[in-house]
Amino acid sequence: MVKYRNYGKENPGLWGSIFFVSFLCLLTAYCDAYMVGNNPHHRVEVLDPLGRYELEWLVDWESERVIFNVTVRTTGYIGFGLSSNGRMRGADIVTGGVAANGEPYFTDRHSVGDELPEIDTIQDWVLHKAWESHSHTFLSFSRAFDTCDPQDYVITEDRIALIWAIGEKDNDIQYHHQNRGFFNVHLIHPDYTPPITRQSDKGITQVLGKENTDLRVWTISRSWEIPSDHTTYWCTMHSPPKLPHKHHVVGFEVRFDSEENKKHVHHIVMFKCNAPRSRSTRSLFEPFLGYRGQQCLAVVEIQPGGPIPTEYCTEMFLGWAIGSRTMFIPQHVGIPFAESPDEYYLLQVHYDNPNQLTGLEVGLKIDFFYTSKLRAHDGAMMMIGHQVPGLTPSFLIPPSSIGHSIYGHCGSMCTRRMLPTDGINLVAVSLHSHNSGRQMKLQHFRKNRELPWIASDSNYAFNFQQFRVMRKEVKMLQGDHIIMKCVYDSTWTNGTVVGGFSTRQDMCLAFLIYYNKLQDFSVCQSEIISEDYRNHFLNVQNITWTPSQLEFVVDPPESMGGLTISEVSDNFVEWNVENRAELQRFHFYHPQINSCPRDLYTRNLLNSGESQVDPDDFSASVIYPSNARVYQPKETCSFAKNT
Ligand SMILES: *[C@@H]1O[C@H](CO)[C@@H](O)[C@H](O)[C@H]1NC(C)=O
Ligand SMILES: *[C@@H]1O[C@H](CO)[C@@H](O)[C@H](O)[C@H]1NC(C)=O
Ligand SMILES: *[C@@H]1O[C@H](CO)[C@@H](O)[C@H](O)[C@H]1NC(C)=O
Repeated sequence: MVKYRNYGKENPGLWGSIFFVSFLCLLTAYCDAYMVGNNPHHRVEVLDPLGRYELEWLVDWESERVIFNVTVRTTGYIGFGLSSNGRMRGADIVTGGVAANGEPYFTDRHSVGDELPEIDTIQDWVLHKAWESHSHTFLSFSRAFDTCDPQDYVITEDRIALIWAIGEKDNDIQYHHQNRGFFNVHLIHPDYTPPITRQSDKGITQVLGKENTDLRVWTISRSWEIPSDHTTYWCTMHSPPKLPHKHHVVGFEVRFDSEENKKHVHHIVMFKCNAPRSRSTRSLFEPFLGYRGQQCLAVVEIQPGGPIPTEYCTEMFLGWAIGSRTMFIPQHVGIPFAESPDEYYLLQVHYDNPNQLTGLEVGLKIDFFYTSKLRAHDGAMMMIGHQVPGLTPSFLIPPSSIGHSIYGHCGSMCTRRMLPTDGINLVAVSLHSHNSGRQMKLQHFRKNRELPWIASDSNYAFNFQQFRVMRKEVKMLQGDHIIMKCVYDSTWTNGTVVGGFSTRQDMCLAFLIYYNKLQDFSVCQSEIISEDYRNHFLNVQNITWTPSQLEFVVDPPESMGGLTISEVSDNFVEWNVENRAELQRFHFYHPQINSCPRDLYTRNLLNSGESQVDPDDFSASVIYPSNARVYQPKETCSFAKNT
């Protein structure tokens, strides 16, 4: 239990630790979140890019409160708030500080626009402590997850945009352009990132704290002039440092050479390469170390883009997506690494160049943190969701849709095939969609019942795809049915959004980190394969996936021959209310084809030859369990009020 002490003027004994934190940030030149004292619910973040505003917070699950400590370089007021989108309007805000006479002041407010927020009728935020030095102000305050006050924001597992403001004076609380900003977080998710200091980019990384001094880092540096195409998926081959025995990768981070560079990388996936039995790993992959790389769209190659044998690099290792900060997995799980002296990895980077700029040099560094102290379990990453682009264009969001849903299944046939009898344990998840993604929910069905959601975000930000470590790990058993539900808003464009690789197209995926590692499987996806789709909604017959256009294109000699599916949909389909509703029903009720292929490596072992056919390859039909008992989250005040 946390004790709530009243504020008072106190000699800042905390000053030392604040100083220590700032010192760390200076030393590392970057200040990502990290946990304090081995407690993943106690975290530190620097909210202001200029380093003036530091937040330390503790999620107290017993009392369902969050305790915030802010240390800000000002002797004026401090503003802090919770918001869905980073804007003032609708935000829940507190302002406070220490006045010239030494008296603290602190008010719970809410904002109705970009002006001085109004004072709440009920003051639900509690100030515990406040002090001021010649340069800094410190406030410690707390709030319940849900205060049951309609003028407050409800803290859930949804993405929250923390608003911060730095005032120059105490008696002058107002809207301030320069000294404010917002910062996306998954506020109540645990974070296992230790404080890190670097000695050099390529060398050993020392980690502060007694427990983690064995951490080292494998850094891949890439600097490349990206093509002027809107979308480029580029693959390069890499080998890790030579190590004498198995290690565990326990965390990763992507750093960019500039803020501008950050905008041009949408995702990164690392695959492990496994040679078929008849070939030597070294001779198959070694020639491509240092090779400039090649186009590579999907896990299993759609567009053969060059000489790298990417078809053998299908085992998912780790993934990163836009906006993510450092990620460490819980302390009982590690991803096996350096199990053999010859290991090769394929790095896939999705570069995003919406303005089709030329001569754009994008530099980044990917750090994999690894340890020789093996953790209790071997972990791995897998992907669940809707197939993209699939065999047919069944991922379709009509023009200017609000709330259009797509469902990607991993059904019971697949989980029976993939999982061992005691199942697997999910520990972290990253929800992945593109520009249109607004709400994502990873649902979990067992027998005829829906279990609590594995992850859910009804305030999804497509540019903040941080992995979330789950507070309680989730067991996934044989026969379970997992559904990735994605809700889209495509009003940002006037056109149809199809499933696809570009950020203008969309995806519906979850990346999961789990243990114990499965030897054979990395993906479980579904799609609707139906003649009806083309005949009924689009009125086209023969189509071909065309890599150069990243879309399905209607075959000549049909009247619409040469047009892409989105062009057909934009120009020839009448998207009236009935058609939209019918398409939505179709996505929900129509059976989908579920596929959970073995990794190619295992297929080759099974065949003990070069054939790429899985001897027990199958695809199962899967349908939304609409008769199952629906999961109802615990009633909170806000739920009660809304009904
Ligand atoms: C906030 O600061 C107080 C000292 O004033 C300290 O006791 C407490 O642990 C801190 N809480 C958090 C969440 O950092
Ligand atoms: C969508 O808008 C763009 C310009 O903003 C325009 O060029 C295009 O013709 C529009 N498309 C449709 C289908 O209205
Ligand atoms: C579609 O392809 C099939 C087989 O190639 C052909 O028989 C049929 O006429 C084509 N349909 C149209 C509308 O072009």
